[in-house]
Amino acid sequence: MTRMTTAMDSRGTASPHANLHSHPGTPLDRPVRIAVVGAGARGAAYAGLAAQWPEKAEIAAVADARPTVRARFAARHSIPADRVFTDWRELAAHGRLADAVIVATLDADHLAPARTFAEQGYDILLEKPIAPTEAESTAIGEVAARTGAVIAVCHVMRYTRYTEQLRALLPQIGDIVSVEHLEPVGAYHFAHSFVRGNWRRTDETAFSLLTKSCHDIDWLGHVIGRRVLRTSSFGGLAHFRPENRPAEATDRCLDCPLQNLCPYSATTLYRDGLREGGTKQYFTRVMTAGDLTEEAVTRALAEGPYGRCVYACDNDVADHQVVSLEYEGGVTASFTMTAFTPLENRHTKFFGTRGQLTGDGRHLHLYDFRTERTTTVDTSLDGSSAAEGHAGGDENLIRCFVDALHQGRPELIRSRVEDSVEGHRVVFAAERARLTGTVVTL
Ligand SMILES: NC(=O)c1ccc[n+]([C@@H]2O[C@H](COP(=O)([O-])OP(=O)(O)OC[C@H]3O[C@@H](n4cnc5c(N)ncnc54)[C@H](O)[C@@H]3O)[C@@H](O)[C@H]2O)c1
Repeated sequence: MTRMTTAMDSRGTASPHANLHSHPGTPLDRPVRIAVVGAGARGAAYAGLAAQWPEKAEIAAVADARPTVRARFAARHSIPADRVFTDWRELAAHGRLADAVIVATLDADHLAPARTFAEQGYDILLEKPIAPTEAESTAIGEVAARTGAVIAVCHVMRYTRYTEQLRALLPQIGDIVSVEHLEPVGAYHFAHSFVRGNWRRTDETAFSLLTKSCHDIDWLGHVIGRRVLRTSSFGGLAHFRPENRPAEATDRCLDCPLQNLCPYSATTLYRDGLREGGTKQYFTRVMTAGDLTEEAVTRALAEGPYGRCVYACDNDVADHQVVSLEYEGGVTASFTMTAFTPLENRHTKFFGTRGQLTGDGRHLHLYDFRTERTTTVDTSLDGSSAAEGHAGGDENLIRCFVDALHQGRPELIRSRVEDSVEGHRVVFAAERARLTGTVVTL
């Protein structure tokens, strides 16, 4: 029979709350209690996944600024009214209510809650990017070191079956010499998130290499297994600018004569989202705060930010960027992020001394120079977008986080903030290289 334990604090005395390090190797005799801060798209998705395992996880409290989002979340997880808060500060002021907290507020609101909850003894699952500036990202890494809190960053790509199998196959190509990696963001995805939506302005959130591609730079470091020494970068905002607006276009798509011709038409995207599932429906939900009705979509098209013409927004983040990376030992990588693609999985080629490994987010093709044969592995999971759960990455991230906390097994967490801060440093360095036209040495 498996030995179970009641929760202990860091001094080993019985406590109503557990920490990951307080019961090493011994499962808790109750579910891990999790508070959710920011119950929007990501917070709700993670809580929904954790709720699949009621014997291991319980959603115990929520803080969210939006009344409808908060009420829906509290009802879904049967959270009593005295554990439902309008702001993370209110939850923090209440004293410790759970074992762990998921911080899924927007990027600029990561540092303050992460610091406060770590100081209160919570372990934390923190959405990426860690924070919008290098100083704040480093500060969160320091908070983890100072308080002993485990802070896991939501680098979901580290947790996919595809990545696990890719890492297992990589030794077969010998030593990695160079890598080519593409993040095809997708035209309507880019228009939704980075032209009309939350991540359109550098001063409100951050530059797109951080908000979109900190995943990619982190993932390259994870699979290559070496430190970056130097970086350069080029790119910018090529297309979604007022000077590219067709003469007949109006400020809003709803009354635009081009709405059935324009590839970025909001009326087409969000009305498709009412009929279709998948990513388009996810975006329509974001646009209407979850109300999937014709009236809500029409109102949001007429009044909200997601109804604007893509050439008449206040966006400034880059829509295409390339980054060159030199790793220890002379290994090189080139990375491209671009808006101008279908909604596809990332593509990567690893060039090794004995072969080549090519991946499309689902299939892996291993070519052996000696036999001149290709072996193909189908990892069977597709759908790398957030709406599709990042090809199993969301579910496995939450499973690992819950299991780590419940079983006292910190090694299950593959994305500790300490590692993630290193990846973020590379992203900030690449952006400095782009802005200054220089090669930046790390
Ligand atoms: N891991 C990934 O691949 C991935 C994908 C998309 C987004 N993200 C990141 O996840 C985070 C959340 O993004 P989202 O799409 O869920 O955004 P969202 O806008 O849907 O959710 C954020 C929520 O925070 C709430 N909030 C705002 N201020 C608050 C406060 N003071 N206290 C409590 N709640 C507050 C808002 O009401 C909102 O419901 C961001 O940092 C984003 O960059 C990560």
